[in-house]
Amino acid sequence: MPSISVKEFLFWKKIQLSKGGDHQSLALLLNSVGGISNSDINLSRINSGDNLYLRKNLDFLESIWKDHLLNSTPIQYLCGTTFWRDLKLKVTDKVLIPRPETELIVDIVIKIFGKKSQNLLFAELGTGSGAISISLSQEFPSWEGIATDIDQDALEIATKNYIDSSKYSNLRFCCGHWWNPLESFKGKFDLAISNPPYIPHNIYKKLPKEVKNFEPKIALLGGEDGLEHIREIIQKSPLFLRQKGWLILENHFDQGEKVKQLLIKNKFTLVEIVNDFSGIGRFTIGRYK
Ligand SMILES: C[S@@+](CC[C@H](N)C(=O)[O-])C[C@H]1O[C@@H](n2cnc3c(N)ncnc32)[C@H](O)[C@@H]1O
Repeated sequence: MPSISVKEFLFWKKIQLSKGGDHQSLALLLNSVGGISNSDINLSRINSGDNLYLRKNLDFLESIWKDHLLNSTPIQYLCGTTFWRDLKLKVTDKVLIPRPETELIVDIVIKIFGKKSQNLLFAELGTGSGAISISLSQEFPSWEGIATDIDQDALEIATKNYIDSSKYSNLRFCCGHWWNPLESFKGKFDLAISNPPYIPHNIYKKLPKEVKNFEPKIALLGGEDGLEHIREIIQKSPLFLRQKGWLILENHFDQGEKVKQLLIKNKFTLVEIVNDFSGIGRFTIGRYK
């Protein structure tokens, strides 16, 4: 195991950051590949005589950092890992890197149903790495969940993430187009959640290269106006939700009002646009009658 003095390490870290990139990305690299967390570093700073023990040597870590900076490769894909809420998730370029703003979906669910609610059935459409469903299955061990995706490779990653991070067996994964794999659960869901692809075609073309060149197109593109998938999910949801079942959707920053109208048109009540931490109407929620 390579060892290095704290002073040498901090100097190396400073040099890496001077080349570009941000503290958070370097911290992810050091933690997930180098095997040292911010708190390890802080502790060694206090005991400044201590050495730090790395899982990989600095040259190896530096080569990954260089790839990240030169090619704009997302650090999460290079490390094969991301942190989301309290989960450590495996990610490859087969799945979207789950975003921090999406974490709020779990808080919205907790707010609607309360922490003590029991024995509900939920569906997540388009689970990707599995982040939302795995988090819900941990928060609500008595609930049952079914997470779907059209991409079998994504489902394999989600399944692995679930096995690695959960001590429960309350989540299943199914492959198929939106509601299609859930035919046998018509009228049964208390809750459905989706963060579907919602980027309009003209915006997709202008996305930053770290997104467009690396993250799966199928996870991002929402057709000409961005609402193609959201429309389909909303239109079919009355068939699958129970009376008073909830639908929670993530949408693009300016789609909230349109999604709200779609929900109202499909007989949803208590329809509301919920802001993310930046004050953007990122989620639209409603209850089926
Ligand atoms: C924006 S990503 C969201 C991933 C994950 N839920 C998250 O929040 O990080 C959308 C996901 O929907 C899946 N998807 C795209 N088209 C689909 C379809 N027609 N049916 C089911 N899933 C689909 C993609 O494979 C991708 O995993």
